[in-house]
Amino acid sequence: MSGSYQLSKWDSKEEELLRLQQQHLQFQKIEQQWLQDSGLEKSSRVLEIGCGPGFVSRSLLTLIPEGHLLSIDNDMEMEPLWKKNTDFGTQISDHGSCEFQCLDFSIKDIKIDETFDFCYLRFVFQHVKNLKNVLDNVKRHLKPQGKIIIVDSDDQLLFCHPHNHDLRQLLAQVQNTQRVLGGDRFVGRKLPDLLKQSDFTHVHFQSLTFTNGQYPFKELWQLSMGYKMKITRESQSNIDQLLECLSVLDKKKSLFFHVGVIVAIGTVL
Ligand SMILES: C[S@@+](CC[C@H](N)C(=O)[O-])C[C@H]1O[C@@H](n2cnc3c(N)ncnc32)[C@H](O)[C@@H]1O
Repeated sequence: MSGSYQLSKWDSKEEELLRLQQQHLQFQKIEQQWLQDSGLEKSSRVLEIGCGPGFVSRSLLTLIPEGHLLSIDNDMEMEPLWKKNTDFGTQISDHGSCEFQCLDFSIKDIKIDETFDFCYLRFVFQHVKNLKNVLDNVKRHLKPQGKIIIVDSDDQLLFCHPHNHDLRQLLAQVQNTQRVLGGDRFVGRKLPDLLKQSDFTHVHFQSLTFTNGQYPFKELWQLSMGYKMKITRESQSNIDQLLECLSVLDKKKSLFFHVGVIVAIGTVL
């Protein structure tokens, strides 16, 4: 396994699965809009890389009732979770066909015997060492005019007022740990340039921001800090203290807490 994400290493997998599910529920509506605005059709063939437990896969499938989804993850542990989450049972009959493959998409010259109209990667790039290989692999598997959509974090979009030194220190430590593991917490701003360097055209990008004026602070904290809490060396009691301090400010309406993600879209000629 390469990169900075490995579910099997964590004691409390349920907590992380819940976080991914909540993240998905938060994003779902906006996400579906980007995909449809970018031309996703009922019959589209979609490649999803770093599908994880399949929360996004399930919602993608409802958008392509006549299409096909190939979901890829390099962690074998994801397969049974993905199967469970994409099993519609008798609930909805209107969804596309789907398949899971366990594959590290950052390996050079991956070959799949299919081509796709869309490729979607959400919160994957920040964990991957060789992004150029991923982009080259994606390019070879997109049809002409096929699109790649990448959603990822940039920690510069995570800040609060009043300034909190402990939060800054915690973030700096996590950024360093993730970098050592092969990831990059500032990958968001690099997405347009990475797409350009890999010869994608019509590159568009935007940032989406969320504050505690729009969402409950504790929810935003959990969504934005959940993974970080897994890789930090900071003690639980120090984290609890920091959270308590920010929660008190939030209750007094004195806290501004801001998080954000970058969405970048590119096309293959
Ligand atoms: C933070 S999770 C995101 C899961 C899902 N995209 C979501 O937003 O809920 C990142 C996922 O990417 C997978 N991943 C990381 N590097 C990968 C690679 N090189 N090839 C395929 N999957 C990878 C991890 O195993 C993990 O399941």
